[in-house]
Amino acid sequence: DTIVAIIVAAGKGERIGGADPKQFIDLGGCPLVEHSRMALAAHSRIDRVVVVVAPDQADRIPDARPIGGATRRESVRNALEELADSGVSTVLIHDAARPFVPPAVIDRLLDALDAQPGAVPVLPITDTLARGDSVLTEGVSRDHVFRLQTPQAFRFDAILDAHRRWPATEDATDDAGMAQRTGHDVMMVEGSPILDKITYPADLALAEARIAQAME
Ligand code: CTP
Ligand code: MG
Repeated sequence: DTIVAIIVAAGKGERIGGADPKQFIDLGGCPLVEHSRMALAAHSRIDRVVVVVAPDQADRIPDARPIGGATRRESVRNALEELADSGVSTVLIHDAARPFVPPAVIDRLLDALDAQPGAVPVLPITDTLARGDSVLTEGVSRDHVFRLQTPQAFRFDAILDAHRRWPATEDATDDAGMAQRTGHDVMMVEGSPILDKITYPADLALAEARIAQAME
């Protein structure tokens, strides 16, 4: 049973702004992406970690694979295709923009794969939801609605199949959704607030505060 973690770090970080893509920003003395790389590599059940960067960022991170694509989906697909036929049984697919990965979440995900081909960490929604277009048009129930995090875990063959069959024209923001839509059941496990993605400057400030507190 070979378990590989893929970290996608080939985005441009446009919403956070700044000169450098967010995965390379210094967080507590090392590039942001190194935090999740260390957490995943340190887990006893994970055999190998592959970091995917854009082709022009090859020299930024030691041992990174410069095979990032134009979209997140393409970056993941390129990594999966590179791993195909190499005996990998299980993959964890993770956003570099989520630096703090609790080991307990990894265990929950991998345990869930005994029952289903996919597993995703989720948290309940606490804000009120509504649909609208300049004015509210209708309320949206929070019943059975969750927010999805990464890492997401899959039996390798299932997620490769999902990516190969996914329509080229259709966008996808995560792999669990692609697996589900292509017929591979995805188990929900409890996520963690510290897994939340760094998307805007305030998210980065929160991560910096967490690091500073941990170092005290
Ligand atoms: N990602 C990637 N390849 C892409 C786009 C995104 O590997 N072509 C990665 C990002 O590096 C990030 C993760 O997917 O770790 C989640 O994406 P997101 O938070 O949207 O990051 P960015 O696309 O970099 O940010 P933005 O959308 O604000 O430009
Ligand atoms: Mg993006």
